Amino acid sequence: MRTTVNAVVMVMLCAVMVQADVKPQRDFNLQKFAGKWYRVGLAYDSPSFVPYRDKVKASMGIITALPNGNANLTMWDATPLGCLSKVYQYEKTNVPGQFTYFSTRHNMVKDITVVETNYTDYALVLKHKVFNREYTQVALYGRSLSLRINIINKFKAFALSQGFPRDSILTPPPAENCQQSGSGR
Ligand SMILES: *[C@@H]1O[C@H](CO)[C@@H](O)[C@H](O)[C@H]1NC(C)=O
Ligand SMILES: *[C@@H]1O[C@H](CO)[C@@H](O)[C@H](O)[C@H]1NC(C)=O
Repeated sequence: MRTTVNAVVMVMLCAVMVQADVKPQRDFNLQKFAGKWYRVGLAYDSPSFVPYRDKVKASMGIITALPNGNANLTMWDATPLGCLSKVYQYEKTNVPGQFTYFSTRHNMVKDITVVETNYTDYALVLKHKVFNREYTQVALYGRSLSLRINIINKFKAFALSQGFPRDSILTPPPAENCQQSGSGR
């Protein structure tokens, strides 16, 4: 009994330590990060998400940098009701590249870390709430729908290092007829 509890505590500590290691992109620049991105990779290990894994598409999003250092992310998703957009309001923290936002779906504040980006091609983004697979995601954003294989591999390696099993690490196909449709802008 005692050993089981210890083992569980150890696993939790390790997971939290893995998280604490993740630093945002050095000298993060929100202006350069703004604009259009495609979510070409997603690692998400929530059991409730498993049935949707093969339905995920590479959605398009636009980051708008606000004058106060916050950002809006508008994402377009193909749904049974058509192509719908949703705005996520990212609030800056005192660490550049680190934001928080209120998730209406999970009713809690989550942390967003832009782990690595070169602004012109790709961005590796971690969304988390301590280490809990229901609330943690890694996303790979690309300025275009096809990224070089070394970037895709970097994303997969990062997701594996965060404890995601291989079958939860997805590189979905493009969303058809759902890219910056009329409703958005
Ligand atoms: C950011 O999003 C909020 C909520 O949708 C909206 O009220 C605000 O006008 C947006 N700001 C910009 C600059 O798009
Ligand atoms: C970003 O990465 C791409 C692909 O690896 C490379 O071609 C490009 O020069 C990089 N841009 C910067 C600003 O480093």
